[in-house]
Formats: sequence, structure tokens, C-alpha cells
Amino acid sequence: MKKGEMLYEGKAKKVFKTDEADTYIIEYKDDATAFNAKKKGTIKGKGVVNNKMSAIIFELLKEKGIPTHFIGLLSDSQQAVKAVEIIPMEVVIRNVAAGSFSKRLGVEEGTILNTAVFELYYKNDAYDDPLINDYHATALGFATAAEIESIKKLAFQINDVLVEFFKQHGMRLIDFKIEFGRFHDEVILADEISPDTCRLWEIGTERKMDKDRFRRDLGNVEETYQEVLAKIETN
Ligand SMILES: Nc1ncnc2c1ncn2[C@@H]1O[C@H](COP(=O)(O)OP(=O)(O)O)[C@@H](O)[C@H]1O
Ligand SMILES: [Mg+2]
Repeated sequence: MKKGEMLYEGKAKKVFKTDEADTYIIEYKDDATAFNAKKKGTIKGKGVVNNKMSAIIFELLKEKGIPTHFIGLLSDSQQAVKAVEIIPMEVVIRNVAAGSFSKRLGVEEGTILNTAVFELYYKNDAYDDPLINDYHATALGFATAAEIESIKKLAFQINDVLVEFFKQHGMRLIDFKIEFGRFHDEVILADEISPDTCRLWEIGTERKMDKDRFRRDLGNVEETYQEVLAKIETN
């Protein structure tokens, strides 16, 4: 497979065409942004960590029957994926109150939620990725009701797999953000799952092991990303 022209460059990754119509190459960058790009920086080695971690997790999800875009790793910072039409929504699952949820609803960070919470955001930086519900999504044509049903089902299945996986590797999955895309009439998991897109707290110490270290200037950002990868790479 040959790498072709760059299709788009996002905040964390570049997407390239290939000589195969159904396949893209994603290149993970060290660039870091937070608060919808109001805070910018670099996390050395992040591209490699996020590329490898996404590969491990998407392989795991595939084993559990979740359809994903992941095809295979090409290098430390690049992977081949199925070319999807991204559904313009950020899907968030929360197990424990944190971040914008705590702020918006006045719930102390760390509060365990009675049930996992499913949230949708309209993926649009110009409007700060506003919170929406399934009515907004269908009314505005982001997704059909049937697509939202499968997204919801997949998101909770993914949560079950990931909560257990991170627990086995010494971390609590507080919340995470995922994106879905259309691939030949099927809705599949796309984008990435990494410390940029998950909140992970170390079991025992409650130490934050995710992008909150960058967002909140907690220090040891690079080291912690490496540590997360090392943890999930050990059995
Ligand atoms: N399999 C895929 N096919 C097409 N686009 C994808 C795929 N996986 C992820 N993308 C898109 O690639 C873009 C680049 O990723 P990223 O840098 O994270 O962007 P953003 O700045 O929107 O967060 C995003 O728009 C994301 O939705
Ligand atoms: Mg992104």
C-alpha cells in the first residue's frame, strides 16, 4: 500500500489517502490541544504512545466483536485504517464525575455515577463542541435514529470491555470520548482511544494518568503517557 496526498490535518493526527480507495493512513502527532484548542503545546512521544495504544485497544475491541476502522500498524506513529465518513459527533461515556460534567452539574469530581452516562456533542470547534441529544442529532441530520441506536449500544459495550481492561492494568476508566464513522452502510468505531481521549486514574493512588496532566499543568506529562502504554503492554 502506498501513502498518497494528505486529506486533512486535525489537532492530533494527519489523515492520508492511499492507493486503495477504502484505506487511509493516520499519522499521530505530538501536538497537544485542550479546551477546544484554546491551550496548545507539545507532548514529546505522544504520537507514538497514542498510535500504539489505539492499536492495542482496537485489536482488543475487535476480539470482543466491536467493528472498528483499525487495519494494522505501519510504523511507530502510523496506522492503516478503513476510510470512513466521520459522523460529526463526539460520543462520551462517563462512569465517574469529572471535567465538564462536574463543572456543569456541580458534582464533585470522583463521584461514582449510579449508571454510566451517555453523552453526545456536536463535533464543531467553532461552536466549542456543544452538548446535544439524539433529537438534535436526527433533526440536524448528523445521524439517523437507527445509527444512534447502534452507536449507543456499541458505546456501552466498549465501556464494559475497557473498564475491565484498564482495571486489569491498574487503572480506573473515569470517562472517554469516541467517534464513529460510516463504512459501507455499517457504523464502525473510528478515530483513537488514548490518554488524550480517556480519563484514567491509577488504582490505589488516584493519580491522573491522562490529558488532564496537560490541561491542568500537573507535570510529568510525557512520562505519564509512556507509563500508561507500559502498563497496558504488560499482561
Ligand atoms: N477512519 C477514519 N476515516 C476518516 N477520518 C477519520 C478516521 N478516523 C479519524 N478520522 C478523522 O481524522 C481527523 C483528524 O484527527 P484529529 O487530529 O484527532 O482531529 P480533530 O482536530 O478533529 O480532533 C478527525 O476529523 C477525525 O474525525
Ligand atoms: Mg481528535
